[in-house]
Amino acid sequence: MGIERSILVILHILGASIWIGGMLIMALGVLPKAKKAKDAALLKNYEGSFHILGMIALTIQFLTGFRLAMIYAGGMKGLFDFSSHPAVLFIWKLVLILITMGLFVVFKKKTLSVLDNSNISSASTLIWVLTLISITLMVLGLGFSRGII
Ligand code: HEM
Repeated sequence: MGIERSILVILHILGASIWIGGMLIMALGVLPKAKKAKDAALLKNYEGSFHILGMIALTIQFLTGFRLAMIYAGGMKGLFDFSSHPAVLFIWKLVLILITMGLFVVFKKKTLSVLDNSNISSASTLIWVLTLISITLMVLGLGFSRGII
């Protein structure tokens, strides 16, 4: 593996760890705790600390993923030749990360801004959708070199 690809993969896995880990902690740790304690501030505070880091991780994923996919597909043109497996994986990952970025902004600006102690469950769907998409992105990533999908 060349030096460029090695650095890109390291950054990509670091970004994936931050994003997936951050979402899993929110879904499995903070959300149930906030519901039990009927304390929306727990969720808002956690998201407040995670938001910038999460956005940086998503940006890293987008940039490193795009370049890695170009390397796999043999250039920009190959990325949109959907008869090739890497191009199909690429387009799915591209669509899912764009949906993720949009939903994460909606989560902060819409869901959390009206969240109070009586409606904490209203945040559950979006948190779980974002978490499940993050795991899907990981599984799709394993399709490139490990052929598990
Ligand atoms: C939150 C978003 C993402 C997560 C969690 C994620 C996760 C992963 C993971 C876990 C791998 C496995 C690497 C390995 O086989 O060891 C991977 C590989 C890969 N991902 Fe992503 N990814 C994300 C976004 C993207 C995006 C947006 C693209 C491109 C548009 C992309 C393109 C790739 C490519 C090309 C590989 C293969 C890397 C290689 O083996 O050289 N990823 N991804």
